[in-house]
Amino acid sequence: MTQHLADRTHPSGEPSGTAGGGRPDWWRHAVIYQVYPRSFADGNGDGMGDLPGIRARLPYLAELGVDAVWLSPFYASPQADAGYDVADYRAIDPMFGDLHDADALIRDAHDLGLRIIVDLVPNHSSDQHEWFQRALRQGPGTPLRDRYHFRPGKGEHGELPPNDWESIFGGSAWTRVANPDGSPGEWYLHLFAPQQPDFNWNNQAVRDEFRSLLRFWLDMGVDGFRIDVAHGMVKAEGLPDMGSTGQLRLLGAQVLPFFDQDGVHEIYRSWRRILDEYPGQRIGVAEAWTPTADRTALYVRPDELHQAFNFHYLNTPWDADALRRVIDGSLDSMRPVGAPSTWVLSNHDVVRHLTRLGGGLARARAATLLMLALPGSAYIYQGEELGLPEVTDLPDEVRQDPAFFRRGTGDDAADGQEGLRDGCRVPIPWTAEGASFGFGDNGSWLPQPPGWGKLSVAEQTGDPSSTLALYRAALAARRAHPALGAGDSVTWLPAPAGVLAFRREGADGSWVICAVNTTDTPVAVADLLPRTGQLLLASTHFAGGDVLPADTTVWWRD
Ligand code: NOJ
Repeated sequence: MTQHLADRTHPSGEPSGTAGGGRPDWWRHAVIYQVYPRSFADGNGDGMGDLPGIRARLPYLAELGVDAVWLSPFYASPQADAGYDVADYRAIDPMFGDLHDADALIRDAHDLGLRIIVDLVPNHSSDQHEWFQRALRQGPGTPLRDRYHFRPGKGEHGELPPNDWESIFGGSAWTRVANPDGSPGEWYLHLFAPQQPDFNWNNQAVRDEFRSLLRFWLDMGVDGFRIDVAHGMVKAEGLPDMGSTGQLRLLGAQVLPFFDQDGVHEIYRSWRRILDEYPGQRIGVAEAWTPTADRTALYVRPDELHQAFNFHYLNTPWDADALRRVIDGSLDSMRPVGAPSTWVLSNHDVVRHLTRLGGGLARARAATLLMLALPGSAYIYQGEELGLPEVTDLPDEVRQDPAFFRRGTGDDAADGQEGLRDGCRVPIPWTAEGASFGFGDNGSWLPQPPGWGKLSVAEQTGDPSSTLALYRAALAARRAHPALGAGDSVTWLPAPAGVLAFRREGADGSWVICAVNTTDTPVAVADLLPRTGQLLLASTHFAGGDVLPADTTVWWRD
């Protein structure tokens, strides 16, 4: 399908930059909603979510009040890692629809004022990608092999892997292949599943291909890219051993010879030039797991990407001191490079924050209101606006996450749900009743718990005490109040132990105060309450007074 830039509309209408007193660049304050296509809405009743299903639900997202939608991968894929193993980056997997569906979805989203961000997976392809298949057929030393990391093995007969690198999903990061004549051959590198061979980013054809892919999707009208494993493309020279570290974790912060190498930044500089060629502020978002916030900031220097996920925040426990430290650290790191901080609590790789933070719905709602009060851009994962918990009792036989099948046993095994990802991917409930609670006309690819219908969109709509109503109110307040959204600092207010309180000011002098009681008992906050102003929003029942209930966040405004 050929697309032309000229006939694409964009929901822009906003001036560029922050100068001149206008609204700042959209991505400095955007609330971005992550759709996990398999589990959002099933348009054709086959039990698997799809693009027509998402398209039909776009009005719900517009009404929720988000600015943009990030779609996890929908490309042609054997689905060894739920689509993060791409066989054809220019095609939609038939189970999700086709390019016409993608085109219609992008157009409808723009008509509703929503931007679309797609997932780009440049660290690895599927082992079914044409390049990898040809590389296997052509054998050692051929140009196609150089597009991946093929190496001879160690040991007398090459029977040992080339180095000690481990897969994030468990086991060695190397798999041996057969030569075209059937004899035992070279090994190839895969930091994730064996079906996900890593590209060699020193190869010019790989670099050219991804620049071309960026243009393909930009021409389709997308507003940006979430870049998968953005810290992984360049490996340390000579592929040195990593040494023993214990089982690697998704979203971890270890220093490793295959992550966060300085060479990745040149790639992003070349991508930024392409993004800037297009109108409407197209953005790049790094999924970069780095040891420190300062290292993350390098990905969002002015000539690189626009945003990076804040996994240091996501990995912080519900503890006032720890939260204050990570908030300050994030803002301090981003300020010198002029990029917005981002905030995220849940995604398709981690235990949903309602369950992970250990305090049930009250704590989840308090954590959300804190996140949405912080300066910068925030990410919401589908279903958190319904207060969905992690599904912790999925039977082994329905699980599909490759991390589940490759995880170790004994000390290295994941505790509880940590490291297991199907429990946050259960299809979301739209209606109280029905075969899959309105997800589709039939079942769903992962079983939904029996009580799921009570949490559905239909049940919560119109109920002012619902979590859905809280998200809608918070997002509306963010849009309406100049002190919320974009910014690079907060003013901390003195507060009792276990309580966080800060003030933010808008350019017009208006203010918002956010106070969070992270403890499980009520705390008197008489000294901290603003003497003027009004209650804007509270995460639990709080009608005023000088006692902040347990696990509660309150916003006041001037
Ligand atoms: C990060 C993605 O979020 C995750 O789901 C995936 O398994 C890995 N990257 C590998 O692509």
